[in-house]
Amino acid sequence: MTDSLPTPTPVAAPTAAATARARRRDRRVYTRSHPVLFGLLAATRRRPVARIGGAVLVHGTEPYRQALARVPLDRTAAGTTGGAARELSVGGALFDQEGAGHRDARRAVAEDLGAAGVERLRPVWREVLARRTAPLAAGHTVDLVPLARELAGATVRALLGTTAPSEHIAEAAACAAAAAVRDHLPGPRPPGAARAAAAAAARLEELLATADPGDRAEPALRAMLAVAAVNTTVAALPRAVAWCADARLWGQAADDRLRPVLVGELLRVIAPSPLLPRVAAADAELDGCPVRAGDRLILVARHAARAHSDPPDAHRPAPPGEARLVFGAGSHACPGARLALAQLDDLLAVLAPYRPTVVRARVDRGAALPGWRSLAIRAARLSPEDR
Ligand code: HEM
Repeated sequence: MTDSLPTPTPVAAPTAAATARARRRDRRVYTRSHPVLFGLLAATRRRPVARIGGAVLVHGTEPYRQALARVPLDRTAAGTTGGAARELSVGGALFDQEGAGHRDARRAVAEDLGAAGVERLRPVWREVLARRTAPLAAGHTVDLVPLARELAGATVRALLGTTAPSEHIAEAAACAAAAAVRDHLPGPRPPGAARAAAAAAARLEELLATADPGDRAEPALRAMLAVAAVNTTVAALPRAVAWCADARLWGQAADDRLRPVLVGELLRVIAPSPLLPRVAAADAELDGCPVRAGDRLILVARHAARAHSDPPDAHRPAPPGEARLVFGAGSHACPGARLALAQLDDLLAVLAPYRPTVVRARVDRGAALPGWRSLAIRAARLSPEDR
């Protein structure tokens, strides 16, 4: 007689109704914070590239990739991510750099954010996850926004070797980004916005200062890393979990083989940095549309990654190159992608046994990136026997 291996239980694909519920809730982070902009982008998205006055809206997957990887960009122009980075800090860092300066700065961060660097940081966020999700076992609710803030702050703290409290780092990084982003968006600029942004950035640099004279990272680079890491993480983790819960994807999240694929799919569909504002530095062409030097390019990551049309499903994922577009493309593509994927993977692994549902959600209208101000979840299963 031969022993046969147990057949794995098939993990269900999401139903249309559950997907619609997830999409409906997630859309609120856009419609409650920037309804006009969201409407304009939705109205123009059928065309891969659309010109509106001096702005070129780029929705198509290939034109988006080309705009980032092939079109020369003015990385210091006002109203771009690089321009905001430069305004925020005395020297600017990464986002606004080109050539040798950019290569050197990237090399400095690449090591810390590579495979070994991520494993070194992993115990830091795992401790936050274990402590902050423990109340679920007793039937209590857990708000994922403060959890994500502490997780991101603690990771940055360990990454940069500083001693400032995690919560302070997260708060200062959020303030600096929110103040800077008001520059990007259409509409009147609130009085004192530039001063507020500079003050927030100075506070962040102060918090991140280290006593180590041999520290390689410049203050501006440390501040930019904190801004880039904290704001994306705080936006991404709660939105991804809400989608997973609403679309009933916990079966896929509980499966060690499917979870890494699901992580990429969830990040694709929530596209935490949905718009990349850039400025062309030379004449070019995108999908037949002429682009002139000085044109403003609005690169819509959300549409390029087909977040609006193709729901996440680990059984039928988008091609990896497409999902990855939410992290940008070319020489400036996000160096923190591996870290972000690992953090969401760990969060889903911790939550999956509880099959949590969303019990309360409030949009953050003032944040730099679309996201929740509060996202409370509660376990649908409590005892291990239920699992
Ligand atoms: C889900 C989370 C994240 C998303 C969606 C995301 C997305 C992006 C995007 C779209 C860019 C611009 C890429 C381009 O211009 O082609 C970027 C750049 C960058 N990101 Fe991320 N990011 C995330 C997490 C992180 C984390 C955790 C860190 C650091 C620990 C980080 C650090 C950076 C840095 C330093 C840059 C500038 C790179 C350069 O200009 O060379 N990001 N990110």
